[in-house]
Amino acid sequence: MALNFTRLLMMTSSLIAHVSLLVTAVSLSIAAGGSETGFLKPAASDSVYSAVGDPGMKRDGLRVGFEAWNFCNEVGSEAPKMGSPRAADCFDLVSTGKNRYHLNHKVTEHDNRLGVGHSFPGLTPKSLHDPDLYAAEKEIYLGNLCQVAENKNDTKPWQFWMIMLKNGNYDTNSGLCPENGKKVPPFPSTRFPCYGNGCMNQPVLAHQPTAVEYGSDSGPVLRGGFNGSYDGGNGSYFEVVWEKKVGEGGWEFRHKLKTSKLYPWLMLYLRADATKGFSGGYHYDTRGMLKTLPESPNFKVRLTLDVKKGGGSKSQFYLIDMGSCWKNNGQPCDGDTSTDITRYSEMIINPEVPAWCAPSALANCPPYHITPDNTKIYRNDTARFPYGAYHYYCAPGNAEHLEKPYSTCDPYSNPQAQELVQLLPHPIWAEYGFPTKQGDGWVGDSRTWELDVGGLSSRLYFYQDPGTKAAKRIWTSLDVGTEIFVTQKDEEAEWSLSDFDVIITK
Ligand SMILES: *[C@@H]1O[C@H](CO)[C@@H](O)[C@H](O)[C@H]1NC(C)=O
Ligand SMILES: *[C@@H]1O[C@H](CO)[C@@H](O)[C@H](O)[C@H]1NC(C)=O
Ligand SMILES: *[C@@H]1O[C@H](CO)[C@@H](O)[C@H](O)[C@H]1NC(C)=O
Ligand SMILES: *[C@@H]1O[C@H](CO)[C@@H](O)[C@H](O)[C@H]1NC(C)=O
Repeated sequence: MALNFTRLLMMTSSLIAHVSLLVTAVSLSIAAGGSETGFLKPAASDSVYSAVGDPGMKRDGLRVGFEAWNFCNEVGSEAPKMGSPRAADCFDLVSTGKNRYHLNHKVTEHDNRLGVGHSFPGLTPKSLHDPDLYAAEKEIYLGNLCQVAENKNDTKPWQFWMIMLKNGNYDTNSGLCPENGKKVPPFPSTRFPCYGNGCMNQPVLAHQPTAVEYGSDSGPVLRGGFNGSYDGGNGSYFEVVWEKKVGEGGWEFRHKLKTSKLYPWLMLYLRADATKGFSGGYHYDTRGMLKTLPESPNFKVRLTLDVKKGGGSKSQFYLIDMGSCWKNNGQPCDGDTSTDITRYSEMIINPEVPAWCAPSALANCPPYHITPDNTKIYRNDTARFPYGAYHYYCAPGNAEHLEKPYSTCDPYSNPQAQELVQLLPHPIWAEYGFPTKQGDGWVGDSRTWELDVGGLSSRLYFYQDPGTKAAKRIWTSLDVGTEIFVTQKDEEAEWSLSDFDVIITK
C-alpha cells in the first residue's frame, strides 16, 4: 500500500514543474526502495496522473473562486452593493528582479462586484435580471478570466479551486426552493431555521486580493483571502485565507466558520469541481479544477487537514464529501431537475456525530454494505452489518422502487432530488485509508491523508431503478469542509487544508 502510493506520488510530481516536490518524491522513492531512474520513465505516467489543474496546491500563480448559495443552491436575491455572489482571485506571479515579484491579477474588483443589471462579455440577455441565471453565467465569465491552458491546443484547461459557502435558512413562505426538483407553491412550516423575511439573504463579502509580503526572514510570502458575514458582523462569520511562500511548498487554506442565532446552519467547503458540466449540487454548467473527471474505482485523493476547532456537536465535518449526478435509470444527468439526482457521499469525522443507522433504525441504513472482497451484507443481518460505519442513509425522494423501511432525503435543499450516504470512521474503511476510529483526523490529529476514494465509492450503495444499467460513478466534485447544523449556541469551526490532489490510478 505505502509503496504503491509512493509510486503514485512520483508519477504525479513528474507532471509538475516543481523542484522541491520532485526532491521529496525522489527521496521517498529511495526510502521505499524504488529506483530514481524508474520515475523518469514516461510510460508509467500515462496510467497514473493528477486530475486537477494544480496538483497538491503547489502552483505560485493561484486560482481560487468563491460562491455563496442559498438553501437550494441558488442566489434568490443579491446582497445590497455586493453584486452576484461569485468572485475570484487569480493571478500569475511575475519576477521583477532578484527576490522581487509582481502579481498580474486576472480578475478586477469590478469583475467581482458584477451583479444583475450589469452586463459582461458573454452574458445572455435572459440572465441580465435573473439573480440565479446571472450567477451561473458570472461563474463562467470569471472562469474564462482565470483559465489556465498549457498551450493553444490544450483540450483540458482548468479554472479554479472553489470556496463554497451555503446558508441553511429556508423561508418556506418564499416559494424559492423546488421540491425534489419540481416547483412548489409557498407553504408554512417550522421544520427549517428562518427568523422571517430575508433569512435567505446573501452575505456581505470582503476580499483581500492576494499580495506579496516581504517582511519574513524566510523569503517573500503570498497571502490573500475572502471573508464576510450574513448579519453584518453581528455573529455569523466566514473567512478563508490562503498563504504560500514564493517558490516553495504549497498553499495553505485557513478556514473559519461561525454560526449565529439568526444563521444557525452554515456550510463552508473548499471544492475541486469539474471544469465543465454539472458539478455536485448544480444544475448548470460550472467551472473548477478537475480537468479529468475521476471515475470509481480508479482514483485517490491526497490532502493535509488540520482541524483546530470542531464547530460543536452538530458540525458534520466532511473528510471528504464527494458529489455527482445521475438519474435513477443510471443515465448521466442532463440538467432536467425533475429526473436528475444529486448523489453525495460524506465521511463525517466529528466524533460527536453518532450513527443513526442501527439494528433498531434500519430506515437510516443503506439496504446493504459491500466489503472490500465484494461480499454483500444486508442491513437486516444484525450479526455482520457494520451499523457504526453509517451515520445516515437517505434515498432520493423520487425513487419509485425503494425497499422498506426507508428514509428519503430533504427534498428542498438541492435544485433536484438528492441521495446521501453518510459515513463515520470505522475499522471496515481501513482498506481504503479512511478514518477507522472516532477522533481520527479530528482536533489535535492533523494528518496527511491518502484516501482511496475511488475504491470506497465503487462499493457504496446508491439507489437505481431495478433492471437498469449501473450508472458510471463519475465524481464531479470533491470537497472538504464543514456543515454546522442548528444548535442552541453560536458555534465556531476552524481548520486548514493543504496538499489537495486527486490522482487517477489507471
Ligand atoms: C496545435 O495544433 C496544430 C494543428 O494540429 C499544430 O500544428 C501545432 O503544432 C499544435 N501546437 C502545439 C503547441 O501543440
Ligand atoms: C474581513 O477581515 C478584515 C481583516 O482582515 C476585517 O477588517 C473586516 O472587517 C472583515 N470583513 C467582514 C465583512 O467580515
Ligand atoms: C447588527 O446589529 C445592530 C444592533 O442590533 C443592528 O442595528 C444592525 O442592523 C445589525 N446589522 C445587520 C446587518 O443585521
Ligand atoms: C433480509 O433482507 C433481504 C433483502 O431485503 C431479504 O431477502 C431477506 O429475506 C431478509 N432476511 C430476513 C431474515 O429478514
